[in-house]
Amino acid sequence: NSLRTSIDNCYLAHFTTNGILVRGGHETYIRNSFLGQHITAGGDPGERNFSGTAINIIGNDNAVTDVVIFSAATGIVVSGQANIFSGVHCYNKATGFGGTGIYLKMPGLTQTRIVNSYLDYTGIVVEDPVQLHISNSFFLGDANIVLKSIKGVANGVNIVDNMFSGHDTGVEIVQLDESKGSFKDIQQVVIDRNNVNGMNNKATVARGSVKGTGNSWTVDFNKVLLFPNLIRHVQYSLSTAGSHFPNHALRNVSGNRVEIQTDTDVPADVFVMVDQGVASL
Ligand SMILES: *[C@@H]1O[C@H](CO)[C@@H](O)[C@H](O)[C@H]1NC(C)=O
Ligand SMILES: *[C@@H]1O[C@H](CO)[C@@H](O)[C@H](O)[C@H]1NC(C)=O
Repeated sequence: NSLRTSIDNCYLAHFTTNGILVRGGHETYIRNSFLGQHITAGGDPGERNFSGTAINIIGNDNAVTDVVIFSAATGIVVSGQANIFSGVHCYNKATGFGGTGIYLKMPGLTQTRIVNSYLDYTGIVVEDPVQLHISNSFFLGDANIVLKSIKGVANGVNIVDNMFSGHDTGVEIVQLDESKGSFKDIQQVVIDRNNVNGMNNKATVARGSVKGTGNSWTVDFNKVLLFPNLIRHVQYSLSTAGSHFPNHALRNVSGNRVEIQTDTDVPADVFVMVDQGVASL
């Protein structure tokens, strides 16, 4: 239950459980500090064996600002709301070795902001996100974000304006972990405007086009849309330079495949925009 506490300009090493444990209270401000279980400059041969958690926050209204976590199984574990993480650099233990950069736990509202941070070979895992904002961050070495379903809720999620870089092995920037059940309550999820190099982009907003002659055009959005079989909103335009001016209509959106049909065969370009996340009226 500590209150209005500063941990500033510290170098913490050799913890085996938690580097910093914040339990209860509010407004612990951790800033300008370096934390690691083992003193290493990175690429440590013992990385697979890193254990412990650098920062464990069980409470509300705390801030971690300009902090580097260089070794630990998990960089930061959070259960609580209204915490903010800014300028955090995690290279504690690679995801490939079983590490996690930042883990946001249920139960309760997430209400967490992660901004301006650097996830370096280790990612973010969020259980049932409800009000989560991740932006302006850099993900290197196939680092990614996993949304893990516990009760199947994802409501109020912004993952926008980040940069992702990987090794061209098809790792998706945002993934669903539905091992405990699928997401079934999905509202206001906006994953968009991330740029991607050597990974697979995933989003809740997408555009596509298809060209051909005929009476049916299908754009398959499965490669990019995060949630399976969920299209809440479609806009399309059908462009044809042929002499015939056809009637056309949206016929089907099931399985994240948008089908547009015309009443006669025409040469056409069809442009489609879809959205999985718009707030329902
Ligand atoms: C990791 O831990 C295992 C099991 O304790 C041990 O055998 C191995 O030598 C350790 N590896 C390194 C690189 O420290
Ligand atoms: C929409 O497409 C799906 C999958 O191809 C199909 O099973 C379903 O019958 C179609 N629905 C309509 C209304 O045509």
